[in-house]
Amino acid sequence: MIQPALSHELLERNRAKADFVADVRAGLSKAPQKELPSKYLYDEVGSALFEVITVLPEYGVTRAEERLLTEHAADIVAHLPHDVTVAELGSGSGRKTRRILEALCKKRPTSYCPIEISRSALQLCRRELGDIERISIVGYERDYLAGLAEVSQNRAANERLLVLFLGSTIGNFGRLAATRFLRDIRTMLAPGDALLLGTDLDKPVDTLIAAYDDAVGVTAAFNLNLLARINRELDGNFPLDKFEHVARFNRDARSIEMHLRAKEPVTAQVRAAQLTVSLEAGETIWTESSHKYRADEVPAIAYDARFTCSHQWIERDWGFAESLLVAR
Ligand code: AVI
Repeated sequence: MIQPALSHELLERNRAKADFVADVRAGLSKAPQKELPSKYLYDEVGSALFEVITVLPEYGVTRAEERLLTEHAADIVAHLPHDVTVAELGSGSGRKTRRILEALCKKRPTSYCPIEISRSALQLCRRELGDIERISIVGYERDYLAGLAEVSQNRAANERLLVLFLGSTIGNFGRLAATRFLRDIRTMLAPGDALLLGTDLDKPVDTLIAAYDDAVGVTAAFNLNLLARINRELDGNFPLDKFEHVARFNRDARSIEMHLRAKEPVTAQVRAAQLTVSLEAGETIWTESSHKYRADEVPAIAYDARFTCSHQWIERDWGFAESLLVAR
């Protein structure tokens, strides 16, 4: 007999695969610009490659945020409500969160709930942060909002929630979608709950291009892995050697876009989606946007989503902001 927990896991996996099939079919059928949602970059291989990206000399985002959190952890914690449960959206490896959690756990025992769709990232996070004294870690293998709803419901009546949305992942949403997402987060919070939001700031275009098209080719591999993943999981036959990674700056959107460009005409099948895809030479599949912000934009966006930006900490060498948004 199938155990209930096991059958639940099986159902979840089938649903995730059905979503992947539907998104690949819809995205690769779009005209004139084919696209694939960036969330599919993060399977086990993609998550491991992203970890490498965070230590590349050209990619200053993660180090800038780590510097900020290292330097200001005590100050950030001093501005938080008492008795917070911490929920982190997209915890990644959890490395950047360590400083905040250490500062909180120094004051009192703290529950930390990383929310991640990638099981391997959750495991990595537990390994990375499990040694912090007086921490209790409960991982949620869910998408952000479903996980946050659960954490919010499960907390005790006197507990406040601190949501961490670090690493400038908000930048991977379009600008309107980013505001909508903050509003969605807000609906799960009570007045006085807080959101610590990391945003990568505007910087010169050549710095940005180098950050998203590094000399070693790790970001290229990260991007190409999306087609490799479709081949692996959806019985596809994309010829990877006929695609190249492209990073370009979109001035209107103030975003870096990643694309996969066909070097010659390509036809490929994705059998699980009953799909045949044809690309002309030079045609691209748009796989990710990474929007850059001005620090003073954040309080306005936050206000629109029923938060007040109570404090901001800014790293000026690379250009990164951490904003503390309190639910009104
Ligand atoms: C996860 N996210 C914030 C990264 C970024 O900078 O947009 C993803 C990434 N894509 C390429 N390099 C890094």
